[in-house]
Amino acid sequence: MKATAKAHSNIAFIKYWGRKEEILRLPSNGSISMNLSNLFTTTTVEFNPSLHNDDILVNGERNNEINSRITKHLDRIRVLLQKKTYAQVVSQNSFAASAGMASSASGFAALTVAGVAAAGLQLSEKELSILARQGSGSACRSIPDGFVEWVDGNTSDDSYAHKLFDQSHWDICDIVTVISKEKKDVSTSMGQQTASSSIFFQTRLNNIVQKIHTCKELMKTRNFDEFGKLIEMEALELHTIMFTSWPSLIYLEPASLGVMKAVKRLREEGISAYFTIDAGPNIHIICLQKDIDHIEKRIKTIPGVLETIINNASRGSYLIDNHLF
Ligand code: PMV
Repeated sequence: MKATAKAHSNIAFIKYWGRKEEILRLPSNGSISMNLSNLFTTTTVEFNPSLHNDDILVNGERNNEINSRITKHLDRIRVLLQKKTYAQVVSQNSFAASAGMASSASGFAALTVAGVAAAGLQLSEKELSILARQGSGSACRSIPDGFVEWVDGNTSDDSYAHKLFDQSHWDICDIVTVISKEKKDVSTSMGQQTASSSIFFQTRLNNIVQKIHTCKELMKTRNFDEFGKLIEMEALELHTIMFTSWPSLIYLEPASLGVMKAVKRLREEGISAYFTIDAGPNIHIICLQKDIDHIEKRIKTIPGVLETIINNASRGSYLIDNHLF
């Protein structure tokens, strides 16, 4: 059976950085995110008994590093299926992969949902999230719809994401400011392993449970300015940990700083805009729908900004009928 899934990438408001268990990808702390309407992956999977290997094409390419992670994930599905049948996989992103736009999140979420359906298995949303997490941590947050929390958990079975609020709960936007489309030098998978070497890491963990609680309250009451302040400080905390880990991680580029300062200036002018940043140079500007045009116009004048991608909160992962082969 052939199955195709579409999965949306997500932006974390409270970040996952550091793991308490490497193999199962159990995070050091919980995290909170929003699925993004215009950054998504579409993936078709078919298990085919006549194949002698997995046949994997991602964005029109056969890349060994990516393909071996995909094969490992297909192996997890084959364990559930109790059959060693190889699969054909074709996957296409709506955006540049590996440049801090969470391509692994939407990629592994789409692969999980399509792979499980192609295997004829029926898993709950929680089970799909647990499975996606093992492919790429943040992928577990791209399974449920809307605004999502990943509870850290101490075992594989209790580390999964669930919906906090539907996508219609809050019409906030994420203007992704693209500064680089290059593959990053250090993958997040590697970066996650060095987080605990920062002297600030333990301080972060000491405060994170309270921070998650506050974030959820501010989202529930739609208190945009307090929420914006909290998530901007969280992004700066993440990059402080990255700067002070060894080997240090410097993902920001000069244009990233240009956008960050422009966001602060916009606030001085009375526009409610806040930034957040993942493991890459691109800056996510979180704002209200009514301010998009004004912010976009300003940001596009900053040297080094390649393009902007506007996103609303969206669904997570779902099956579709348009197969890629
Ligand atoms: O799932 P990974 O290993 O690609 O890690 C994602 C890490 C951050 O994007 C920096 C934060 C997050 O929670 O998405």
